Amino acid sequence: MREWPESSRTNHQLDSRKKAWSRTAVILAATLLCFGTIGAITYTFLVATLFQPYTPTQITNGLQRVVNAWREPTSQGSFQFEWRDDFSRDIIPKNCHSHNDYLRTVPLYEALAAGCVGVEADIWVTDEEELLVGHTWKSTKKERTLRSLYLDPLANIFIQRNVSLASADDKEIGIFDTNPNVSTILLIDFKNNPKKTWPILLTQLQPFREKGWLTYFNGTELVPGPLTIVATGDAPFDLIQANNTDRFVFLDAPLDDISNPAYTSENSYYASVSLSQAVGHVWFNRLSSKQVDIIKTQIKAAADKGLKSRYWSTPSWPISFRDKIWFTLVSNHVGMLNVDDLAGATRWNWHWCVIAGLRLCDNS
Ligand SMILES: *[C@@H]1O[C@H](CO)[C@@H](O)[C@H](O)[C@H]1NC(C)=O
Ligand SMILES: *[C@@H]1O[C@H](CO)[C@@H](O)[C@H](O)[C@H]1NC(C)=O
Ligand SMILES: *[C@@H]1O[C@H](CO)[C@@H](O)[C@H](O)[C@H]1NC(C)=O
Ligand SMILES: *[C@@H]1O[C@H](CO)[C@@H](O)[C@H](O)[C@H]1NC(C)=O
Repeated sequence: MREWPESSRTNHQLDSRKKAWSRTAVILAATLLCFGTIGAITYTFLVATLFQPYTPTQITNGLQRVVNAWREPTSQGSFQFEWRDDFSRDIIPKNCHSHNDYLRTVPLYEALAAGCVGVEADIWVTDEEELLVGHTWKSTKKERTLRSLYLDPLANIFIQRNVSLASADDKEIGIFDTNPNVSTILLIDFKNNPKKTWPILLTQLQPFREKGWLTYFNGTELVPGPLTIVATGDAPFDLIQANNTDRFVFLDAPLDDISNPAYTSENSYYASVSLSQAVGHVWFNRLSSKQVDIIKTQIKAAADKGLKSRYWSTPSWPISFRDKIWFTLVSNHVGMLNVDDLAGATRWNWHWCVIAGLRLCDNS
């Protein structure tokens, strides 16, 4: 039998010890990985289970079905659907304004389904005297008009719901079953050529006025209707004021100049300003007490005049900061909350948006 040399034997022992070590290391790593995976799964499961009660349940009603089935308007006109009387069932209307509403997958209906009572359309007048809806002139399409996206669908809803005279006392006047008194607000942003836009807009609104669907000022009083038209952007204040016996388009007044006696509830409805113009730069994602005071003063001044205050360009990120601003505005009774994220604004509890490192909102 051949003897291994002494040194070689030591080497051999060393080798097998090394092998044993690396085997132990592999087992250890595998064990850790295994426990890690189980831990991660348990954590996710736990968080999901814990927060399931806070997840808003999907409401089924006519509006939700329209949202699911909606198609872009064609040369034949707006999307048509079969009317069912549960159209707005269980939807609680909220003072929430769907910012740039026409950019959503489903304009108008998505906001109404979320209970937002305000929607916004940017309009461009064409040489053919049509009002196109779009963020920029380049993005307009001839099928996407104020009529096809907003006026015709609203008229259909009012007809189906048998909405009759404005302010007919205890009659159902609006879109929402849970509070029929709530007026829906269509904010129209004049983008180009306001002088040319104005008479075309009035002509398109005239049938609504005749049916008693519009909020109007009759010379002495504001008479509420199921739909309120507010003009913003380059909207001509002189033309809005020109008719002082039958005024049915109201101004989006500047909230930072709200003490100006020119703006009253007879000619204005919203009073808006961008957050930074109102309070200056917001440092470290935090409103100072001085900034909160400015907001409180402006909101109160608008409310005293019977106008709905609204702040636009509020931060959308980080979510926790966005929610803090929303909370500050709403707890100080802002007239309208301007929102991009409908689901985050209307269905989630804002205090629960980011929990245990998981972001729960911002899912619109
Ligand atoms: C609306 O009025 C029509 C005819 O006047 C009637 O047939 C229909 O049932 C009414 N609808 C509702 C929801 O009241
Ligand atoms: C709607 O307004 C009428 C008349 O102002 C009032 O009697 C009624 O209680 C209001 N309904 C709701 C749900 O606020
Ligand atoms: C305006 O409306 C109010 C309330 O509906 C009414 O009392 C008043 O007579 C109306 N004024 C005119 C000039 O029509
Ligand atoms: C006001 O509006 C009514 C109804 O649309 C119209 O008959 C009247 O001529 C208008 N008045 C002015 C001054 O524009």
